[in-house]
Amino acid sequence: MLVLAAIAYAVSPLVDQLTLRWFIRDLDIRSALIANTIQEPLQEQLAAGKKMKIGEFFNRIIQDERLFAIGYCATSAGPVVASRSLPKTIRCSELSRWEGPGDHLLQSDQGPLHVAVKASGDDLLEGKLVIIHDMSFVTRRSEETKRYVFYFFMALAAVISLVTVIIAQLSWRGWMAGMQALLRGEGLLRRPGSAVRPNSPEFRPIARDLQRLVQELEAETRSRDESQITWTPETLRAILHSELRGEDVIVVSNREPYIHQRRGERIEVQRPASGLVTALEPIMRACSGTWIAHGSGSADRVVVDKNDRIAVPPDKPAYQIRRVWLSPEEEAGYYYGLANEGLWPLCHIAHVRPTFRSDDWKQYVEVNRKFAKAVVSEAKTKDPIVFVQDYHFALLPKMIREELPNATIITFWHIPWPNPESFAICPWSEEVLAGLLGSSILGFHTQFHCNNFVDTVDRFLEARVDRESFTVTFGGKSTAVRRYPISIAWPPEAEAVRKEISSCRSDIRQLNGLPFEHKVGIGVDRLDYTKGIVERFRAVERLLELNPEWIGRFTFIQIAAPTRSGIEEYQHHEAQVRAMATHINGRFTRQGPPPIVLKVEHHDSQQVYEYFRSADLCFVSSLHDGMNLVAKEFVAARDDERGVLLLSQFTGAARELPEALIVNPYDADQCAAALHLGLTMSAQEQRDRMRLMRGLVAEFNVFRWAGRMLLDAASMRRRSRLIDKSSSGNA
Ligand code: G6P
Repeated sequence: MLVLAAIAYAVSPLVDQLTLRWFIRDLDIRSALIANTIQEPLQEQLAAGKKMKIGEFFNRIIQDERLFAIGYCATSAGPVVASRSLPKTIRCSELSRWEGPGDHLLQSDQGPLHVAVKASGDDLLEGKLVIIHDMSFVTRRSEETKRYVFYFFMALAAVISLVTVIIAQLSWRGWMAGMQALLRGEGLLRRPGSAVRPNSPEFRPIARDLQRLVQELEAETRSRDESQITWTPETLRAILHSELRGEDVIVVSNREPYIHQRRGERIEVQRPASGLVTALEPIMRACSGTWIAHGSGSADRVVVDKNDRIAVPPDKPAYQIRRVWLSPEEEAGYYYGLANEGLWPLCHIAHVRPTFRSDDWKQYVEVNRKFAKAVVSEAKTKDPIVFVQDYHFALLPKMIREELPNATIITFWHIPWPNPESFAICPWSEEVLAGLLGSSILGFHTQFHCNNFVDTVDRFLEARVDRESFTVTFGGKSTAVRRYPISIAWPPEAEAVRKEISSCRSDIRQLNGLPFEHKVGIGVDRLDYTKGIVERFRAVERLLELNPEWIGRFTFIQIAAPTRSGIEEYQHHEAQVRAMATHINGRFTRQGPPPIVLKVEHHDSQQVYEYFRSADLCFVSSLHDGMNLVAKEFVAARDDERGVLLLSQFTGAARELPEALIVNPYDADQCAAALHLGLTMSAQEQRDRMRLMRGLVAEFNVFRWAGRMLLDAASMRRRSRLIDKSSSGNA
């Protein structure tokens, strides 16, 4: 626009000069024509001696609008005979000035004039005609022309600008849409069921490469960012706030984090022994959402409000528990039956046969439905983030999806996933798989369990399995199958590690009637057959057989929290553990302390930490375990960088803590050798191993576990919003 204005400004004087020259030429021609025309009548007047009449004749001629004046000089010395309007400056003696080449312009009071001098004819000696034209019209025309030139350039500028803007808009939109479509693969890769026109197949590889590149960049940026983040409750809160706009998270699990029990007149609050609860509780404190769980305590109903909710932790409320009530029949079928007699042994290789009953299955379906209703009633939006826990709720993701199609459902399976042959035992294998595939993200502790799950789906369902992105598409909906190794809060609660190590050592020994220098091993588990407690005792027995110098000098304290005691298998297992302890103690207790102290009772986390801090070694001998958080808690408790961890190779934790003494719990000799090695390990070696393990647990803590899932959920939500927006744009 400015450029065109400058051009218009520069061009107008040129146009002026050019038109002036054209007008002068025209006036010259016109003057010659007038001279020729009046020549004859003028000669006649002169011949008749009517000089006086000539002036009148000239006055008549100048009636012409442009003709200003006419004069006649018979000789250069004589007076001029002229019309009235002839300027005084025109004299016969000075006519030569107006002859010859030049513009012949005269500035007068009336404006610019053009003066032309013409010979009046052959017969007239020296006679000359002066023809003067008014040139003010030239100035008027020039002004007008300049105005038009200016308007023309302005209009041109406006049109050019408009066209430029329109073209830029169209091409930008087209380019952007094309680029977005290309990155999503829609432009070149037609989405299933999409109305987008398929493009040239030759571009498809480029589109795929681009998509992959974007995904890799996304993943790389994320992992780089993740590794730079120090994961704390604040980090998690910030993620929820920035990535998920502070949305509430709804957690669903069978076991509740706080159980209210009646003890006579008093109501006591109990924290259950559950790895799941250990991991999720700090997350919920950080996120302030709602935790839906089975209200199983004898005083649970007394303490809730009219919506079955209670704020916890009791001393410093940070989130809500919404309790769901189950009848004894529902609990028997869903919890004891299908979940713990069916799915639990099905998923653990512990050589206990799963029992599946159709009545249990019916209760399992009904209870899952009951929890789905609770989720819907707790959801504050149409697209909440629902975090479903464990094998008690395999059907829940699909049920939630049916009610809240836009929900982001993260399901975490806290136990191992078996291979397809083992899973085939379940009479409702297809229903279980379809239920889980209602999830947006399905998490396991290890890649091995992710592989098992994907293989199982491949074997039993008509689903599309993408092994590169680890995504299963079933019934038009995709589920990302991912590995998220669970962990514990870091740093551990200050209260748990407040007591000095030396005090813990002496107090625990005193409490159990052991001398101060006595070596102590510790095991902390639910009294579950998957934990390998029998195998652990067998290893202690073998140690005393092979290395009798430890008799009377080493005691293994086993804390065993009673669990699922309504199930026969568990009752049988408890009896077996008790008998084994009695047998070994009978064999090796001479005058000194017993080799095994078995404590079948609930201990709170502070007491457990005191035991961890007092021990020389900790033995985790699970026959099969998704992760096992006891191993990580022992490491967290040892801020003195001492103590040895013996860890079963069949736990998920063994993949993360290779500095532990990794053992096969079925190999009693190997375990006995590891016990001996642990009891004789130098302080320096203990420190080296412990330092590495503590570094790992600190870095890969439970806030990172939850944070990674929530980050993945956030990017999934962003992507699906983008796709929805673009498909509504395409429609
Ligand atoms: C395992 C399961 C949890 C369960 C915990 C305690 O860790 O994965 O879901 O809560 O055992 O078992 P319980 O049956 O007492 O809840």
